[in-house]
Amino acid sequence: MSRIQRLPNSQPLDNPIDGRYYVWPVGFHVGLHLRDYWRLEQHRLGVTDFHYFADGTAHKNRMQGNDYVQSLMYRHGVPCFSCHDAHGTDNYADLIKPVASNQMCLECHAAGSPNGPYVATIEEHTHHKLGNPGSQCVSCHMPQIENQGVPGAFIHAHTFRFITPAMTEQYGIPNPYISCHKDKSNQWATKWLAR
Ligand code: HEC
Ligand code: HEC
Ligand code: HEC
Repeated sequence: MSRIQRLPNSQPLDNPIDGRYYVWPVGFHVGLHLRDYWRLEQHRLGVTDFHYFADGTAHKNRMQGNDYVQSLMYRHGVPCFSCHDAHGTDNYADLIKPVASNQMCLECHAAGSPNGPYVATIEEHTHHKLGNPGSQCVSCHMPQIENQGVPGAFIHAHTFRFITPAMTEQYGIPNPYISCHKDKSNQWATKWLAR
């Protein structure tokens, strides 16, 4: 497993308002180059640092966008607001629909949908009974990868990739198998994944 390295934190390049430090890029607006206002984070593949896991996925909060641009859904033009309403909802993370019933995902991913999963029933895909936490799309495709330091507040992977036990062994990224079946090993999970 890689050593955690803390790179110099990202910060503003100068403090134009009365020399005061602000944690946003003062003066930047859409169309300008962010790098002229903000020291951008650098990531080296293979290194786990404050911001990134070794495979370039988010290790820190507020990086849902960095994750999401790596996903197939992003490449197909599905925007953040297919799932979120930035103006506020009663659901966790301003989701437009609660995640509990899989309702939001199933709108585009019902069994047999051309978007997948390519199965006749959702249970066939998840290998768990409906209603079980193991049948929730987010349990496997958006696992909690890091606690952002606030108790109970977790970051959910936004690459939508399935994190395999091999990724855990190699890069230290938590996989959903072991996060749920806490008494089991990565070897056990790999065996089931193969089946
Ligand atoms: C607005 C429609 C829409 C919604 C809502 C949606 N998806 Fe997707 N999703 C897509 C499309 C389109 C694709 C690309 C399908 C393809 O071309 O194979 C996709 C692909 C995927 C893939 C495959 C990624 C890969 O790399 O193979 C996963 C996993 C996935 N979505 C999970 C989810 C989950 C979990 C949710 C709910 C949190 C969700 N999706 C909600 C439209 C949607
Ligand atoms: C128990 C874990 C688990 C759950 C729960 C789960 N998936 Fe998956 N899903 C997987 C795995 C594993 C793959 C294969 C990933 C790979 O090949 O990299 C996958 C692949 C997919 C794909 C890519 C196409 C395909 O069929 O391979 C889509 C789309 C998808 N899942 C959508 C969903 C949706 C929507 C839900 C909720 C209804 C869901 N998944 C629930 C584990 C799960
Ligand atoms: C396909 C649906 C989908 C898309 C697209 C999506 N999100 Fe999310 N997002 C979710 C779900 C579902 C959760 C909460 C997961 C849970 O409750 O288990 C979430 C949680 C979050 C959170 C709360 C912190 C966390 O990680 O849990 C933030 C912030 C967030 N998303 C930002 C974004 C941004 C920014 C984008 C676009 C760059 C985006 N999301 C795109 C489904 C989506």
